Amino acid sequence: MNIRPRRNRKSEAVRRMVEETKVTTDDFIFPLFLLEGANDKVEVDSMPGIYRLGLEKILKEIEACLKLGINAFDVFPVVPEHYKDKAATKSFDPNFFYQKALKRIKSEFPEAAIMTDVALDPYNSDGHDGLVKNGEILNDETLEVLGKMALAQAETGIDIIGPSDMMDGRVAYIREVLDDNGFKNVSIMSYTAKYASAFYGPFRDALDSAPKKGDKKTYQMNPANQREALIEADLDVEEGADFLMVKPALAYLDVIKLLKDNYAQPIAAYNVSGEYAMLKAAGMKGWLDYDRAMMETLLSIKRAGADVILTYHAKEFALLTKGK
Ligand code: PBG
Repeated sequence: MNIRPRRNRKSEAVRRMVEETKVTTDDFIFPLFLLEGANDKVEVDSMPGIYRLGLEKILKEIEACLKLGINAFDVFPVVPEHYKDKAATKSFDPNFFYQKALKRIKSEFPEAAIMTDVALDPYNSDGHDGLVKNGEILNDETLEVLGKMALAQAETGIDIIGPSDMMDGRVAYIREVLDDNGFKNVSIMSYTAKYASAFYGPFRDALDSAPKKGDKKTYQMNPANQREALIEADLDVEEGADFLMVKPALAYLDVIKLLKDNYAQPIAAYNVSGEYAMLKAAGMKGWLDYDRAMMETLLSIKRAGADVILTYHAKEFALLTKGK
C-alpha cells in the first residue's frame, strides 16, 4: 500500500492542516426577534436558548455578539395582533416600533451589517406573505406593498434587504424603488429558493405569524423540485440580487451546491428555526452531543457551498470556539 489516507488523519496538527472547510463567525448572520416593550425578554418555547428581545436588550445582545466576532444581524419584528390588518400598513409606517428600532440599532452600531425581512406575514391579519383576496395570494398587488416596506426599512439606514415573500418580480421591483429613492447602496439578499417547508414552525411561533388559513404552497417552492431553483436564481440575478439564498439549509444541501456551481453571486443558506429546534431537543434529551452536532451541521452547510449562513447557532458557536 503506497497510498494510506489515514496518514493525513494521524494527529490533530495534521488533521487541521488538511482541513478543507472552516466555519468562522465571519460567515454568520444572526437572526434576532424584536419585541415592542423595550426591556422585555421572552424565550421562544420551541427554540430553547433563543429569546424575543426588546430594543434595549437587543442593543446589548448585538454589542455582546460584535465582541465575539459576529458582525451581521437579521432583525425580525414580533408584531402584536392589534397592529395587524389586511393591507399590512405597519410594515411601511416609519413611526412603527420596528422601523424606529432599526434606526436606533444602526445609529448605535454603524459598523454592524443589519439585514431586514421583506414579506407581509408578520404584519398582515391573514398571516400570508402577500395580500389575500378571496383566498388568493395576490402577486402584482403585493409588489407595491413590498416596495413601500423595503423603502421604509432602507430609510432607517439598514444595509441589506431580504425579500422572503417569493412573489414573482419582487427583486426587480424593490431594486427600482430603492434606486429611485437614492438607496442604490442598499443590498438585496434574495430568498431565491425558498421552499414550502415544515421547518419554519418554531419561527412562526416566535413571531406569531402562521397563516390563518391555508398554506404557502402557491408561492414557496415544492420540496420535490431542484431544477426549478435555477429558474428562480436566473430571475434574481437578472433582477439585480446581490446574494442568492437557499432556505431551509439541511434538507436542501443539493440546492446550495447547485446554485454555488452555477452562479458567481455569494450563496447564502438559512439554517432555519426547525433545524435549530431539532438539534436542541435531541441535545437536551441527551440523545446526541449537541456541540459536536452543531459544528457538523454548520460545516455541512459551508461544505455544500454556502458563503453566508443565517443561523440561530451563531452566538453558541462563537462562545464555543472563542480563542480557538
Ligand atoms: C417570513 C419568513 C419566514 C422565515 C423567515 N422569513 C417564515 C415563513 O416563510 O413562513 C423562516 C425562518 C425560520 O424558520 O427560521 N416570510
